[in-house]
Amino acid sequence: MNKAIILAGGQGKRMKADMPKPLFKVLGEPMLEWVISACEGAGVSDICVIKGFMGEMIDEYLAGRYTTALQAERLGTGHAVMQAIPFMKEDETGNTLVLCGDAPFIDAETIKASLEMHEKQNNAVTVITAELDQPKGYGRIIRTKDGISGIVEEKDASAEQREIKEVNSGAYWFKTSDLISLLGKITCDNAQKEYYLTDTIFLAIKEGKNAGAYKSENADIIKGANDRKDLLALNDYARMEVIGKHLANGVEFICTDGVVIDRHVEIGAGTQILPGTIIRKKTVIGKNCKIGPNTVVENCTLGDNVNLHAVQAFESVIEEGVAIGPYVHLRPNTKICSGAKIGDFVEIKNSTVGEKTAIAHLAYIGDADIGKRANIGCGTVTVNYDGIEKSRCVIGDHCFIGCNTNLIAPLKLGKAVYTAAGTTVTRDVPDYALAIDRGVMKINEGYTLRKLKSQIGHSHISKDKK
Ligand code: UD1
Ligand code: CA
Repeated sequence: MNKAIILAGGQGKRMKADMPKPLFKVLGEPMLEWVISACEGAGVSDICVIKGFMGEMIDEYLAGRYTTALQAERLGTGHAVMQAIPFMKEDETGNTLVLCGDAPFIDAETIKASLEMHEKQNNAVTVITAELDQPKGYGRIIRTKDGISGIVEEKDASAEQREIKEVNSGAYWFKTSDLISLLGKITCDNAQKEYYLTDTIFLAIKEGKNAGAYKSENADIIKGANDRKDLLALNDYARMEVIGKHLANGVEFICTDGVVIDRHVEIGAGTQILPGTIIRKKTVIGKNCKIGPNTVVENCTLGDNVNLHAVQAFESVIEEGVAIGPYVHLRPNTKICSGAKIGDFVEIKNSTVGEKTAIAHLAYIGDADIGKRANIGCGTVTVNYDGIEKSRCVIGDHCFIGCNTNLIAPLKLGKAVYTAAGTTVTRDVPDYALAIDRGVMKINEGYTLRKLKSQIGHSHISKDKK
């Protein structure tokens, strides 16, 4: 079976953070996850991640999904791969892919195409390369008539070799059994006193084995991050790639300022994404929607013709034809059914809002099930928490909840219940009833004038009145 080893031991000193470099995120996902998903996409799921600096964070992130091996000392890329020898020995019959955990844009197509070449040429090792205008810092590929003879690191290269523009991406296919034996033969006899994984190539050739190079047309597979500026460049690049994909699918962007869309998000044709819109994780958006400006949508499913303006929505379902905003917060496990309207300064959590129901202004709806065609008045609050337990409110179809109603949960309002403005509802209300809870209103005439006179001796209001 084919395997993959991902090198994720680097600290990335220039990041200036207590975190392994491969855990830094590009479009919301750690670079390591991008590399893992390229492997998975190419059908390689037997993966060992080599950890080093703050390796426990790698374990915590992977949460047991893949094998890990610790490189306790940083003695070079060859030494890093040696730590995975027990993992390789579990099954030596296939090939092993070695990848860098901090070069996120390696893709499944490149992995598959290079494997095909690796197998066809019966190579012990096939290195994935690319041509760069600025090859500085990378290992240079030494080509021969019918293959390659080796890779020379920048620090070990002659002036002539430094002119070579084809470089080592840091990704390779090996025959697993050859890799195990070649790792036993590399030394640290070089400018950096490191065990270079790249030395396996000339060693293989010395033993009469084949070594090849697969040149990727897409030089972006090589892009990595050494510092925060590089990481920003990776994010910028990935952001525009994702936006480009949506443009091709018929999504409209009038201006991409502040627009960040994670790579797994799906958006239907005819939808318009306005500035300041961040769409995260596994969000799915229908056709002909208008999202933004200034909106965050995370792990939500939206139907067609949804309009979100200045909305923060998390883990929620919004059906077709719903209009929400501005300044609305949808917290997890909320469902807004088709045709509902949610207006400004409304917070909804763990609730269902029925078809064509309106919550037009200033309300808190938590742990509630609201039926269809209800009207929830301004200032309505579901009082769902007594300090110890959360309880639910059920509000039937066609209810009309007056302004400033408090609904003390647990509570059930039947069909078409009215509540008078300002009512605090403490018991269930049957179908078609009115709940009203008011003291008798009194009018005390001349109160203000008497109060001012007694306190400051005169009333400017009474003078004005004359
Ligand atoms: C290496 C290659 C070089 C290639 C470049 C691509 C070698 C000797 N050289 O360069 O030909 O062009 O990658 O980026 O392999 N790592 C460890 N443990 C170590 C050393 C490195 O885990 O002891 C990891 C790093 O975290 C990184 C990867 O291996 O993910 C590459 O290491 P890095 O030092 O960035 O690359 P170079 O050695 O400069
Ligand atoms: Ca190095």
